[in-house]
Amino acid sequence: MAPTIKIRRFQSLDFGQIVEIEKLSFRESNPVLFLRIYENYPDGILVAEMNALIVGYIVFMEMGGAGRILSIAVHPSYRRMGIGSLLLKKAIEVMMRKGLKHAILEVRKSNSVAQRLYKKFGFEIVGEIPKYYKDGEDALLMEKVIV
Ligand SMILES: CC(C)(COP(=O)(O)OP(=O)(O)OC[C@H]1O[C@@H](n2cnc3c(N)ncnc32)[C@H](O)[C@@H]1OP(=O)(O)O)[C@@H](O)C(=O)NCCC(=O)NCCS
Repeated sequence: MAPTIKIRRFQSLDFGQIVEIEKLSFRESNPVLFLRIYENYPDGILVAEMNALIVGYIVFMEMGGAGRILSIAVHPSYRRMGIGSLLLKKAIEVMMRKGLKHAILEVRKSNSVAQRLYKKFGFEIVGEIPKYYKDGEDALLMEKVIV
């Protein structure tokens, strides 16, 4: 039987597990982001739970009437199982319930995997931000109209 994946709001006990997934997923780690969002916008962190284990997360917040996605990652051992899609779908549903009309995000120009995920959900490239990342890589700005 396929394992059940539950998408739910972050709780402080999940912190260690999402920081671990972040470290495994990104060159630059910023665990303080989770705490800052949790304190100021507690709806803005969702986690994916499978057999009592956290296997992914998404972080977003409201900014100028848009939902800004700040981070999404799935544990490397659990990728390509649809978990990233479930997290993104749920985050967009939350934004919709809050009456937000757009979702925006930045993604590394080289990160074609993430770009593919976003395009599948209707995000389009609307701009570029030169040298956005600390290592000098450019970011693509992607946006989706929420209907
Ligand atoms: C991006 C990420 C969150 C996707 O999570 P995931 O659970 O593997 O994604 P899903 O299984 O839901 O895949 C959704 C779509 O993404 C794309 N995709 C995911 N993994 C891919 C891969 N290895 N190669 C090509 N396309 C891929 C596909 O379009 C896929 O749809 P499909 O399965 O119908 O082809 C995950 O790869 C990850 O954590 N990457 C490292 C962190 C990161 O780059 N985050 C984005 C920062 S902007």
